[in-house]
Amino acid sequence: MKHTVVLIPGDGIGPEVADATRRILTTAGAEIAWIERYAGVAALDRGADTVLPEDTMHAILEHGVALKGPCTTPIGGGFSSINVALRKKLNLYGAVRPVRSLEGVRTRYDDVDLIVVRENTEGLYAGIENVITEGVITSLKVATEEACRRISRFGFEYARSRGRRRVTVFHKANIMKLSDGLFLRCAHEEHERNYSDLEYEEQIIDAGCMRIVQDPSRFDVILCENLYGDVISDLCAGLVGGLGVTPGANFGDEHAVFEAVHGSAPDIAGQDLANPLALLMSGVMMLRHLAETRSDEACTVVADRIRDAYNACLLRGERTRDLGGELGTRGFADAVCRELDRMPVPA
Ligand code: NAI
Repeated sequence: MKHTVVLIPGDGIGPEVADATRRILTTAGAEIAWIERYAGVAALDRGADTVLPEDTMHAILEHGVALKGPCTTPIGGGFSSINVALRKKLNLYGAVRPVRSLEGVRTRYDDVDLIVVRENTEGLYAGIENVITEGVITSLKVATEEACRRISRFGFEYARSRGRRRVTVFHKANIMKLSDGLFLRCAHEEHERNYSDLEYEEQIIDAGCMRIVQDPSRFDVILCENLYGDVISDLCAGLVGGLGVTPGANFGDEHAVFEAVHGSAPDIAGQDLANPLALLMSGVMMLRHLAETRSDEACTVVADRIRDAYNACLLRGERTRDLGGELGTRGFADAVCRELDRMPVPA
């Protein structure tokens, strides 16, 4: 096998969609040796004394690339988010979430093709909360010039490398004049200095959300800080068929972790109801990353085959229930594998 990838099945629907994704990648001919490691509740269930065990971290540090299922974070108490901890520990500062209409999935729009680029390490996700006095809580929003410049450069570079033309920065600098003001200033200056070949615009996030819903086709790359990026990604997912079809990737300078936008979906976990497409599409992004960073053209071929196979299935109406179909997680994976088996083997 040419590449070693750490597979973290995660919690809830994670193991189901991870299993489906691994099976499809293997059927498509991806030359990947998988190292399975655990995080989240799944790690505790296996006897670990922490939700982010050392051997999981070590495996990612050693191999550089991971495909990760969703991990549950308890609401209002309990342990802090493993997802956030992982992004911070590995310095995965740039989240990329492509949102595209799929030919075989009918939604209100058929021409959505945008990318949300989200700062992944600070903002309100710094998790600095204090009880000032009984009934009074503060939550600190952190913005550093270093991180704002870094994500701006990342966003512009990503836009340029993907042949995108326009970057829209979403902000609320009219209210958060200092923190969002810094984000905006960094983005604006980086654009002026190094990326003036790209169109640049700024939008206050509330009006920007309205415009996305009115006409998503006018957006190309949306650049924003952490929390806005989280919310906007799910909003955009709703434009193209929901969380079952929205992939994602978290990039740092050294490592990359690919994961769907969706969470562990406890409401449908263990019932063969989850759509594995979002993680599968994240796997396709991972193959393209391997192709780019390790000059392995074979990964591009496999990525294209998988994309063609799931599109063919969707067009034939072979879909999971969230997309109006009748297939379960395993059934959809079977359909994609059958399609791959029917496709001509590349020379
Ligand atoms: P969620 O994304 O898990 O679920 C929201 C809704 O979308 C649910 O109705 C669910 O059934 C549906 N859904 C999600 N993925 C689906 C799929 N692949 N196929 C079909 N339907 C799907 O969001 P929720 O309920 O807010 O969060 C549940 C847990 O997941 C929480 O503990 C949260 O912290 C965690 N989470 C983890 C993430 C990660 O690991 N990156 C990201 C988002 C949430």
